[in-house]
Amino acid sequence: MNSSFLSHILCFSLCLFLLLLFTLSWLQTPIPPSTSPDHLLTHPKPTQASSLPSTPSHPLDPLTISEITTIRSILISQPHFSSSPSSLIFHSLSLDPPDKDVVLSWSSGDPLPPRRASAVVRFNGQAHSLSIDLSTGTVSSLPNPVSGFPTMTIEDMTSSALAPLSDPAFNRSVIARGVRTSDLACLPVSSGWFGREIENKRRLIKVQCYSIEGTANFYMRPIEGLTVLVDMDTKEVVEITDEGGNIPIPKSAGTDYRYDELRGSSEKGRPLRPISIEQPEGPSFEVVDGHRVKWAGWEFHLKADARAGLVVSAATVADPITGKRRSMLYKGFASELFVPYMDPTDAWYFKTYMDAGEYGFGLQAMPLVPLNDCPRNAYYMDGTFVAADGRPYVRKNMICLYESYAGDIGWRHSESPITGLEIREVRPKVTLVARMAASVANYDYIVDWEFQTDGIIRVKVGLSGILMVKGSPYTHITQFPSKQDTYGTLLSENIIGVIHDHFITFHLDLDIDGANNSFVKVQLSRQGTDSDATPRRSYLKATRHIAQTEKEAQIKLKLYEPYEFHVINSDKTTRVGNPVGYKVVPAGTAAALLDLKDPPQIRGAFTNNQIWVTPRDKKEEWAGGLFVYQNKGEDTLAVWSERDRPIENKDIVLWYTLGFHHIPCQEDFPIMPIVSSSFDLKPVNFFERNPILNSAPNLEKDLPVCTAAASS
Ligand SMILES: *[C@@H]1O[C@H](CO)[C@@H](O)[C@H](O)[C@H]1NC(C)=O
Ligand SMILES: *[C@@H]1O[C@H](CO)[C@@H](O)[C@H](O)[C@H]1NC(C)=O
Repeated sequence: MNSSFLSHILCFSLCLFLLLLFTLSWLQTPIPPSTSPDHLLTHPKPTQASSLPSTPSHPLDPLTISEITTIRSILISQPHFSSSPSSLIFHSLSLDPPDKDVVLSWSSGDPLPPRRASAVVRFNGQAHSLSIDLSTGTVSSLPNPVSGFPTMTIEDMTSSALAPLSDPAFNRSVIARGVRTSDLACLPVSSGWFGREIENKRRLIKVQCYSIEGTANFYMRPIEGLTVLVDMDTKEVVEITDEGGNIPIPKSAGTDYRYDELRGSSEKGRPLRPISIEQPEGPSFEVVDGHRVKWAGWEFHLKADARAGLVVSAATVADPITGKRRSMLYKGFASELFVPYMDPTDAWYFKTYMDAGEYGFGLQAMPLVPLNDCPRNAYYMDGTFVAADGRPYVRKNMICLYESYAGDIGWRHSESPITGLEIREVRPKVTLVARMAASVANYDYIVDWEFQTDGIIRVKVGLSGILMVKGSPYTHITQFPSKQDTYGTLLSENIIGVIHDHFITFHLDLDIDGANNSFVKVQLSRQGTDSDATPRRSYLKATRHIAQTEKEAQIKLKLYEPYEFHVINSDKTTRVGNPVGYKVVPAGTAAALLDLKDPPQIRGAFTNNQIWVTPRDKKEEWAGGLFVYQNKGEDTLAVWSERDRPIENKDIVLWYTLGFHHIPCQEDFPIMPIVSSSFDLKPVNFFERNPILNSAPNLEKDLPVCTAAASS
């Protein structure tokens, strides 16, 4: 790997979003005259840039560096744009995949179906949704959504965050708080939509700043109540509100989280001896042509995406009895995130982030850190994205793939002495994890797709990173005026961790043994008994109901009205006649509790239910709409589902929202230990019997010779 290139990429990633390095580098050198990425980015030749193949070899492979370059030339030479090619801004550019039947009838070695791309660009302030045919060079225009703006470019974010510095009133406010303007670190905060006239016409962003003096963890030093509304296009400062003059900047002591800063301190760590997983014969998985993964009966396509982060496609699982490949999941990805903060005051009410559609969940996924983000046996996959000027760049090591053995058990049974049988049968559980980690400014989201040998896919989301905190005049909870809402928890002197939610809505295009599936609600309900016939007064009975239309598949989870949620193929049955299926199995989760008419909740209405099922429609992939930024919520999953289309025995998509309520606590300061939750896609009468019956136990002779110190 070319290390100077890597440092460019690192610089690009970090500076461009966090502004931390940006701020630091500008302390040491004059502010660069331009915030275009050109001076930060080199545009490397594909061979230097990426471990990904330079040409696509599967219909779902993402656009390559040379395809992106070609599309850029096609677009800048369009008559409409050629008058001023440098004014053409690329907000997104990705593969427009062939139709499902085309992909499924393709086999390795066949010529690829025609390559197409979808782009969202802006020219002279006007957004254009475009479809580009790479073989013919033709470009067609698609209708734009009724409201909203495209995903911000990285350049939008960085240049907006610098904009307040051009305003003398802003500098004066900062200085009045005792902060040097050279110690500022500023964040671009998406401003949502709240029905103000100005929001209809202009792309707006709110900028809030912190003091980076004395700590890398500037997030813990907010300049509370100072909010600058910036026009993202003109960089004009539209409005400044300064309502926190009495609130001190919290101290920097104790906020750093970097090992180099902490290793000498008196605070005790938790000493552990080194630990590692050995695979003496190498991994059991294979990655073919950069994106196709094969492991333990599974085959799937894995790729990075600027908006969704990580996309799993065309997943099939081998039947252990017939050996046949069976389709399971055609496409799965995080479609949108919604992160509303629970503080209605001036500097906080608008914090209602949608990290995929506003910021690009994949764009914010930084290179994974070997040995720590992923274990030593991990394989890394790059992402190829497009900068605002239409040029490609590579995000190194954005996804990792590794086999995990956490000491867990796959299945077991041992016989007790009662039977006299000496049986001790246990199988270890080994899984395959595909992981990415997005750092959306302060917060870090780890998304894992864990494939298991028994046919389960566990989708897990971990939250870590740094809280978004609020400055407070108080240093002890006894000082709070009794009637005043604090909106959170006092975490340290002058720092409140504000209550917030996280929702991650997954698009799951399940194809259980074929594309036409149905959604079944299996209700478990209490039945009374005839007390003459049995001493029991009650029992539980399972009743199946196939949802006919979308509204019957709008599901709110309830502990005392339990259901299982199956996706079945009613044309395929097992030997004994059960329809083959998979179920979605929720784990710990949280529901959206805001008023349905609250403007953020109108836009985030895709979280109004935990499960939805829609008929598959290529235009309905992004749960918050195609243009999420500042939209009014007319194009959400909730709106589509209200059409109440038939969903029985159709190609359907199941949407699952994983939620977290977060009441911050002191352990979350100055950086949060990971909190995670998950849900499973689990076979239910899909296999004839336990699919891992004939799997081998671990034997000492197969394992590497390492003596376990604890037992010696
Ligand atoms: C505000 O401060 C910054 C950083 O010191 C400086 O570059 C900028 O020129 C100042 N803006 C104005 C309008 O004085
Ligand atoms: C799915 O059902 C539709 C009718 O709703 C039918 O036209 C189509 O052929 C079916 N597809 C498959 C793969 O069976």
